[in-house]
Amino acid sequence: MVFNDHRDFFEVLERENELARVKREVDWDGEAGAISRKTFEHEGPALLFEKIKDYPEGYRISNGTSGTWSRVALSMMLPKKTPIRKIYKEYEERIDIKIPPRIAKKTNAPCKENIMLGNKVDLNAFPAPIVHEGDGGRYIGTWDVVINKDPETNWTNWGMYRFMVHTKNWLTGWPQSTSQLAFIMKKSYLPYNKPMPIAVVLGTDPLSHIVATAGIKTFEDEVDHVGGLRGEPVELVKCETSDLLVPAHAEMVIEGELMPDKIAPDGPFGEYPGYRSGTMCAGVAVKVKAVTYRSQPIVTMVCLGTPPDDSSIAASLTAAVAMKKGLLRHGVPVTDVYVPPEGVTHLIVIGVKKGGTEIARKILDYFTLRRIMTNKHIIVDADVDVFNMGEVLHCFATRCHPGRGILYEWYEGRSNSLTPFYSPEERKKLKGVSVAFDSTWPPEWEKEIVPIKASFKSIYTKETIDKVNKNWESYGIKI
Ligand SMILES: Cc1cc2nc3c(=O)[nH]c(=O)nc-3n(C[C@H](O)[C@H](O)[C@H](O)COP(=O)(O)O)c2cc1C
Repeated sequence: MVFNDHRDFFEVLERENELARVKREVDWDGEAGAISRKTFEHEGPALLFEKIKDYPEGYRISNGTSGTWSRVALSMMLPKKTPIRKIYKEYEERIDIKIPPRIAKKTNAPCKENIMLGNKVDLNAFPAPIVHEGDGGRYIGTWDVVINKDPETNWTNWGMYRFMVHTKNWLTGWPQSTSQLAFIMKKSYLPYNKPMPIAVVLGTDPLSHIVATAGIKTFEDEVDHVGGLRGEPVELVKCETSDLLVPAHAEMVIEGELMPDKIAPDGPFGEYPGYRSGTMCAGVAVKVKAVTYRSQPIVTMVCLGTPPDDSSIAASLTAAVAMKKGLLRHGVPVTDVYVPPEGVTHLIVIGVKKGGTEIARKILDYFTLRRIMTNKHIIVDADVDVFNMGEVLHCFATRCHPGRGILYEWYEGRSNSLTPFYSPEERKKLKGVSVAFDSTWPPEWEKEIVPIKASFKSIYTKETIDKVNKNWESYGIKI
């Protein structure tokens, strides 16, 4: 079943025991967030808070719709227990298929059930949560899809960027200067001092949210890739105050203009690396011109923090597949790439057919030349299962030479200021460093000097392995 909206997906989550409906009233001010965080930390279900303090019956908050591999599998119409390797493979195959969207009539679009326009706009009418204690404000945009368009090329970008309620008709946000939203602003609006129309979309089909977290190539429309992943076009509808097209089945669409001449306080926020993001910073200001929403709207939240959560899981998938394709294009003989959610996209495992210093250098170059926010890269031989962190750590511990096997490179202007270990000075300059841990056997070593792995698969003859496998049940050992 292809999901058109958040509500369809909840039905399946509920059937598959992946959803808890919280019927008791909860406070938007910290309580919904704290419950969500505790649930993530116990790998619990997605949540739907059905009664929110200070808000009318039916106004709801959700959390964690993509917070486990089972939910990601279900959103891709795969069985709940699909192994991570298979989820990666499906995504890798489907993400390159492009199916353009279908345009719906406004009268048929659920997101137009209610419309607030102009001076009627009141963002306080919606239960935007204080997600974590210490956040700079009420974040209405966390698990969102933010849409903006380049008028010069007609390219439409979808990205996931945080947005906070500033007043009843202003939002502030923090799209990083390296984001595609910022790229379009700098390219086609700032030079002309023009406001840029944007739409912050909450609660649409799960794959749209997942793809919004992905680093899709510049000048490519994410919505076409969502169509490919779903195998069906996404239905879009025109905004009320701009020509942007937004998912017709969304819970809420906040239409506004990002101002070229204003900066506004944003943050701090409990962020995806698992820490609060420093102090308040200078963010962008969005004047809200309309809000369209479904009756009994659901504000989609992700209570970001220590993994796992939707961010670390979704980014594991989208980042790994993008990196694998990129590294192959860069001439690296990659077998697999895994981004362990626990490493919050800072740590990447790369399996290669042939390793060595030259390949490690090539991998490092790939990462330091791009807008990629990773920093530690463990390179392993093809006999290691990159999805098995036990095997990866064993390989790293035993094959990475602490003198020759560690290569690093500094760069400036492209780093991620949310990376916890950078100093305040480094963050200001977006100064970063990438390291490769070459955990492969040197390709110049003769076969005879490469140590033989003492594992069942590697150290016995085929004859012994076959014999043991054939007789396994008769030994009476359960594994
Ligand atoms: C929950 C969540 C919140 C995010 N918030 C931001 C943000 O506020 N600013 C930002 O630049 N990137 C943010 N990101 C990362 C971007 O979504 C990611 O880099 C994505 O590729 C951006 O799209 P783009 O490549 O089209 O710019 C967030 C990711 C997640 C999962």
